[in-house]
Amino acid sequence: MDKKLKKFVDPLPILETLKPKRFTKDGPYYEMKMEEFKQKLHRDLPPTRLWGYKRQVPGPTIEVKKGEPIQVKWMNNLPRKHFLPVDKSFHVHDLPEVRTVTHLHGGETTPPSDGYPEAWFTRDFEEVGPFFEQEVYEYPNHQRATMLWYHDHAMGLTRLNNYAGLAGPYIIRDKCEDSLNLPNKEYEIPLIIQDRSFNSDGSLSYPRQPDNAAENLPNPSIVPAFLGDTILVNGKVWPYLEVEPRKYRFRILNASNTRSYQLHLDTGHPFYQIGTDGGLLRRTTTVDKIPMLPSERIDVIIDFSKMKGKEIILKNDLGENASPDDETNEVMKFKVTKSLTGEDTSVIPKILSDFRSLKHNKITSNRVVKLMSSSDEFGRPLLLLNNKKWHDPIEITPQLGSTEVWSFMNTTNFTHPMHIHLIQFQILERQPFDLDRYNEDGQIIFTGAPQPPQPYERGWKDTVAAPAGQMTRVIGKYAPYTGHYVYHCHILEHEDYDMMRPFKVVDRD
Ligand code: C2O
Ligand code: CU
Ligand code: CU
Repeated sequence: MDKKLKKFVDPLPILETLKPKRFTKDGPYYEMKMEEFKQKLHRDLPPTRLWGYKRQVPGPTIEVKKGEPIQVKWMNNLPRKHFLPVDKSFHVHDLPEVRTVTHLHGGETTPPSDGYPEAWFTRDFEEVGPFFEQEVYEYPNHQRATMLWYHDHAMGLTRLNNYAGLAGPYIIRDKCEDSLNLPNKEYEIPLIIQDRSFNSDGSLSYPRQPDNAAENLPNPSIVPAFLGDTILVNGKVWPYLEVEPRKYRFRILNASNTRSYQLHLDTGHPFYQIGTDGGLLRRTTTVDKIPMLPSERIDVIIDFSKMKGKEIILKNDLGENASPDDETNEVMKFKVTKSLTGEDTSVIPKILSDFRSLKHNKITSNRVVKLMSSSDEFGRPLLLLNNKKWHDPIEITPQLGSTEVWSFMNTTNFTHPMHIHLIQFQILERQPFDLDRYNEDGQIIFTGAPQPPQPYERGWKDTVAAPAGQMTRVIGKYAPYTGHYVYHCHILEHEDYDMMRPFKVVDRD
């Protein structure tokens, strides 16, 4: 789009909390219909065609209590044609063009409800994928309080379905968190950050991937990626939020396809980080800048109490090489213009929660997962895990209840956010190795000592930054369910282009 969209002219939308359709003996029952609709994303943009849950982008918040299971019926009422450019090549060519399956990211769920990529279904469940024919998903909610998110995970279409709008937050509460007196109610706000590009008629712009099956590609281009030139928070382009001079808790999610952010406040004020992907940290950590890769969440408190009348911009540090007209260096604006309604009695506790470090467990397996560049039969670049494509036989089969260390050995040139379904894990360390000298069986030459995780990632994680030329080691306990799950890079373009593999949790013997 040539005309630049004006920043900070629309108020930040506050997402609505979904109400159960009814209460059953198995807990609250919800329905979520996916539909096509139009939504205004900026004051000066015509309404944009989107796909959303309950005609909202992002979808409404599902809020639950720990220990109280819920059921959600996910319904596909979308058109039969995609409005974004579907790539007919690869292994997806025989599948219906529009297919969906919802995954609860970070959720500890049974396989039939996890949203396996091949468990897709089409409009009104006319067709379901080869596995797990089920339409009502059950979420046990036995894990600790945190913000998860639900999003589409259909085989080969995840990048497009998410870009079209199929994503929303899922918040689990528990007593431990409730007892802390953190900022809550209207002072606790999810911020879902996404990048998009627009055509001048307001429609979403997304590049078509070159189709090797149909075109003879002389010179295959680069691995797919998508960087939009516009930042949205909660479905508005560069919004602003009017706040009171007091503490606010923000539950931030990077729901972008490819883009990572380096979040900081332009005034130099810190974030008081209280949580990661999997819930509260042990203690509050003061951080000035927090990197967020796709699908990572952070839970932070910002204290506006001494900033009355000020305007604060939530910025994204693009680094020194950024072009001066790259506008994605800003995310949203806070205006401390509201007057204080009553005293702020919320606190920023020093001690937040307690959990065991998994490294004292007996470790059953050490696995190396090699992140690598490869190419398909047409010479088009692919990114693979252990040199295997999606349909290759499963080689990772953790035993139920066992503790494993997975070492993501990144031999590519950039950082990948590696995500494992079913579990929350802990980051052990990262160790640099010589990218030019490693051999096929993972024999590598380390060039430095292992480094502990950063202060902002010393909690439970379901997604970890695996930087190039480093071995990133994570430890997790594969429980409480057996069956098929997946792990993948959460850059959705990489995931769709085979940087995703199944794994299977098996019963002992
Ligand atoms: Cu957020 Cu397998 O996904
Ligand atoms: Cu997930
Ligand atoms: Cu990747």
